[in-house]
Amino acid sequence: MKITTLKGMHDIKPPEIAVWHWVEKTIREVLEGAFFSELRTPVVEEEALFTRSIGNATEIVEKELYHFTDRKGRKLALRPEGTASIVRSFNEHFATAGGKTHRFYYLGPMFRYERPQQGRYRQFYQMGAEVFGSKDPRTDAELIFLAHEIFKRLKLTTTELQINSLGCKTCRPNFRETLSQFLSSRIQSLCADCQRRIQKNPLRALDCKIPTCIEATAGAPSSLDHLCSDCQTHFEGLQQRLTLLKVPYRIHARLVRGLDYYERTAFEFVNTQLGAQNAVAGGGRYDDLVHDLGGPSTPAVGFAIGMERLVSLVSGYYPVEERRKKIFFACLGSEAQTRMIPHMMELRNLGWATLMSYENESLKSMLRQADRLEVDYTVIVGEEEIRQGLAQVKEMKTTGGQSSVGLADLAGYFLRL
Ligand code: HAM
Repeated sequence: MKITTLKGMHDIKPPEIAVWHWVEKTIREVLEGAFFSELRTPVVEEEALFTRSIGNATEIVEKELYHFTDRKGRKLALRPEGTASIVRSFNEHFATAGGKTHRFYYLGPMFRYERPQQGRYRQFYQMGAEVFGSKDPRTDAELIFLAHEIFKRLKLTTTELQINSLGCKTCRPNFRETLSQFLSSRIQSLCADCQRRIQKNPLRALDCKIPTCIEATAGAPSSLDHLCSDCQTHFEGLQQRLTLLKVPYRIHARLVRGLDYYERTAFEFVNTQLGAQNAVAGGGRYDDLVHDLGGPSTPAVGFAIGMERLVSLVSGYYPVEERRKKIFFACLGSEAQTRMIPHMMELRNLGWATLMSYENESLKSMLRQADRLEVDYTVIVGEEEIRQGLAQVKEMKTTGGQSSVGLADLAGYFLRL
């Protein structure tokens, strides 16, 4: 029986992989230009890392975690997101009490046992950025600006930034209580999940996608009306900075995010072209998480981009100049092949992608192969060319024209193009 990929998982194949490389390179350039260093953490962690950080009453932990016990009976899980692992690593290697700020970025597969649909997978890639040690709203704004800049460089202009403030340890309990009372008064109209959320995690009810719940919570109290003065100042500071950086935003008072660690700033970049799963990136501030996971009290803020969603949005903008130029060597006979191998290697070292067929095929079949490989040029060499010290260089993309080039000048010819 043929074995295929698991439901909700997918191969990222050529030629699409070239778009991924371009997107990844662009994100690295933007983040490294702002002093972020890459941090790679394992895919498998202790399950407790995710239950303690993301929250026991979230969908991710309740329903979506890939968890298992290993051969020694340890409870482990595949990471469903990057932030918890980066905090774990920060606490293990970098954290010092009252320490300086640190900036990390990461790229890798995440795992959530969700119901697969367009733009929603069980294994998906995130590229994210986290800053430790700054509670200043200018840091939140700079991070948002970086995500905005990434989209701009990828020519994605149709994405809307939504921001909200979720309050802090001081003011959120009051908001939570008011919201619970509001939800309790409409309990009959809520779905079973939201009924449970009233006690466990009332904020999540604001994110429920079931139409009756949306209707029932239409006039729900807003976190923005319950902010303490510090949170209020922080949120205003964020908005001022975004305006200064010319990043357009919309305040979305129902934006609560699917992870429990957020405080104050929460944001998402959404794009209507994505359908129901319209968030291309999300993030926010999590000032208590470092301490909650055993580190020194350290404010932190970050975001993560969903790579599948971003790639699907920008694949049409993939610039031709990003593609490595390709040359196919169609050599007729083993003598021509032997003579041309050093030329092929030389061009490869100069940055071209080069390939030769060793199969002794006809010229017609080699040209067909060259077409299929979407090469830019084919170098044709037969017995006659070898005798004359020449190669025929055929342009494959536009004109289809052919030129005779001396073998001694072959590399020079391509360099001059
Ligand atoms: P998140 O909103 O859960 O946040 O995920 C970030 C992005 O990952 C989403 O906006 C979406 O594009 C993508 N994503 C999430 N689930 C899936 C899925 N099943 N299939 C495809 N793409 C998906 C976080 O994960 C936080 N750790 C972000 C963060 C970083 N907050 C602070 N720092």
